[in-house]
Amino acid sequence: MSEGSNGVGTSYLLRFGPAQRVEHFVTMVDFVGLVATGLPQKFYTARWAQWLIGNLGGIDTVRWIHRFFGIVLLVAVVVHLATAFRAILSRKVGFTMAVNKRDFNDAVQTLRYYLGLEDHPAAFDRYDYKQKWEYWSLMIGNVIMILSGLTLMYPAFVARLGPGEIIPAAKVAHSNEGLMAFLVITIWHIFNAHLHPDVFPFDASIFTGQISRERMEHEHPLELARIEGREPGGHGH
Ligand code: HEM
Repeated sequence: MSEGSNGVGTSYLLRFGPAQRVEHFVTMVDFVGLVATGLPQKFYTARWAQWLIGNLGGIDTVRWIHRFFGIVLLVAVVVHLATAFRAILSRKVGFTMAVNKRDFNDAVQTLRYYLGLEDHPAAFDRYDYKQKWEYWSLMIGNVIMILSGLTLMYPAFVARLGPGEIIPAAKVAHSNEGLMAFLVITIWHIFNAHLHPDVFPFDASIFTGQISRERMEHEHPLELARIEGREPGGHGH
């Protein structure tokens, strides 16, 4: 972690390295591409869907664009898992996304704080329980979308491996999980990254890589204490 300054007294810490920023950008663009070419196929009778399919070059083109973005997602997930495993096994970084008992206690404490039953909200480490929830939902969702998507891409091959019912089941799973992913990202993720009072109007840290020390103190005090080599809540080194 390095520390910089914007010249007006606010110090910044590096929260996301270049690889993480590029990964987020690629996944973001890819997801928009998948939704824009997937949902019109699901709702093909709607006027907006027919308009979109027509403007993207017709249904054949839309299907190929969707498959292209699908393969990009597959590669991105494989690269992500390989990089994460390597970094964790080499002990360069801790398994900071691991869910533990503390996350459940943090969730309860935060809810109690919102209800006025607690004086302080929970103090978080590198990722809070909501960020972990979102990460794991996304990873599990990606695996479902990739496996069901590949099944729809190669139905004859998959039907040779197991019962034929797998294909219509994959279609239902892909179609509904795709709609749910779109709703989760637009409602939950946009709220947390843009509309949440802590970050409004926009949390730019995943694009700039930087986060202010003030935000770290407020949102990730346990990680900040570790970086600065002191006990949480203390100030010296
Ligand atoms: C989050 C990512 C994704 C979303 C939101 C999404 C969404 C959708 C939707 C809504 C449909 C239409 C289903 C229906 O007709 O009811 C669809 C079809 C399809 N998707 Fe996806 N999808 C995603 C990822 C993928 C991936 C990763 C692959 C491949 C590896 C893939 C391959 C396909 C295929 C092959 C079809 C059938 C249409 C065709 O033959 O081209 N999708 N997708």
